[in-house]
Amino acid sequence: MANFVVQRKSPQELTQEDLDSLVQWTTDEGWDPYTRPSDIKHLYGGPPYLDAKVFFGFLDGKRIGHVVLFTYGKDGGSTDLMDFITFFIVEKSLRGKGYGLKIWNAMWECRDTSANTCLDSVVSLISQYGSLGLNIEWDNREYIIPLLAIAEKYKVTENIENVSTKPLSEIKFEKYAEYSAKVYGLSRSVFLKKWVALPESFTWVAVNENDVVGCITIREGVDKQDAIVGPLYSDNLEIAKKLIYTAAQTMSSQTSSKNLRMCIPTGGSNAIQMIESDFGVKCDHNFPRMCSKKPKVDISKVIAIHSPGYG
Ligand SMILES: CC(C)(COP(=O)(O)OP(=O)(O)OC[C@H]1O[C@@H](n2cnc3c(N)ncnc32)[C@H](O)[C@@H]1OP(=O)(O)O)[C@@H](O)C(=O)NCCC(=O)NCCS
Repeated sequence: MANFVVQRKSPQELTQEDLDSLVQWTTDEGWDPYTRPSDIKHLYGGPPYLDAKVFFGFLDGKRIGHVVLFTYGKDGGSTDLMDFITFFIVEKSLRGKGYGLKIWNAMWECRDTSANTCLDSVVSLISQYGSLGLNIEWDNREYIIPLLAIAEKYKVTENIENVSTKPLSEIKFEKYAEYSAKVYGLSRSVFLKKWVALPESFTWVAVNENDVVGCITIREGVDKQDAIVGPLYSDNLEIAKKLIYTAAQTMSSQTSSKNLRMCIPTGGSNAIQMIESDFGVKCDHNFPRMCSKKPKVDISKVIAIHSPGYG
């Protein structure tokens, strides 16, 4: 009889083999635009460690799948915690045999039931997650926009005088983290510190006098064609355009990227309508955000989420 066990590890306990399997299966699944191999190694592979639990399924000693549970909020002393579920994958040849559900159940029992449990779902699993008490809060819609078109269309934002964009290094990190926490609805400063240090990434902030009024992180995609935005937060859409323009200029001059790729949530700003009408593009993929409680995020200021892999 086959022997199936689930092993739980913290990021501190992950071996090179564990990290390689996270990279391999997310890449095989086509998720590497948002969960780049270099991101996985950077975010999981060293201190300061993220508050996460990784569950690996082993069949007769062979690793066959995993799921990850991040807990956000404890490091910022938030009373509102979020458990974000991600990287739920079973090896292709062994799907449909009940192993995924067993790995999932091991994780589900460990979550903090007082926290808001959230994930970005693939469309095919919405009803299964719904039956566990997760509701769709918004839809994350992916758009791919040519950098050249951004340079043309948003050059006018250079004339916005009361707001300037500058590299994150020119302001105190705490001011950036505070702005992020205000928009996201909870503080996750360890995660943010690691996020802004992702390999091949750039982070800018938009500043009005001394106030942070927006931020954007962009990083080179694995295919070196689509630069990935996440997050883009801003107080209004004019500031968002200015940040998109700044990010596009840098990616054009410093990388071989041709496009900008981002996941825009529905239900907040009019960013989707703006991008569709400014660039004539349509949504490529969508990943509904599902949660057990109403998140306290200020969705009107979330122009693009961090990533479907990290919430
Ligand atoms: C999703 C995935 C991990 C499921 O693993 P699996 O081993 O194929 O699933 P199982 O064989 O254990 O599923 C058994 C049953 O439990 C259900 N199930 C699986 N995971 C579940 C979950 N998280 N919640 C509720 N039900 C679940 C299945 O739908 C199936 O129901 P059915 O018998 O009525 O069809 C696997 O299909 C996969 O790797 N897919 C590609 C990656 C992906 O899309 N991941 C989800 C991202 S949100």
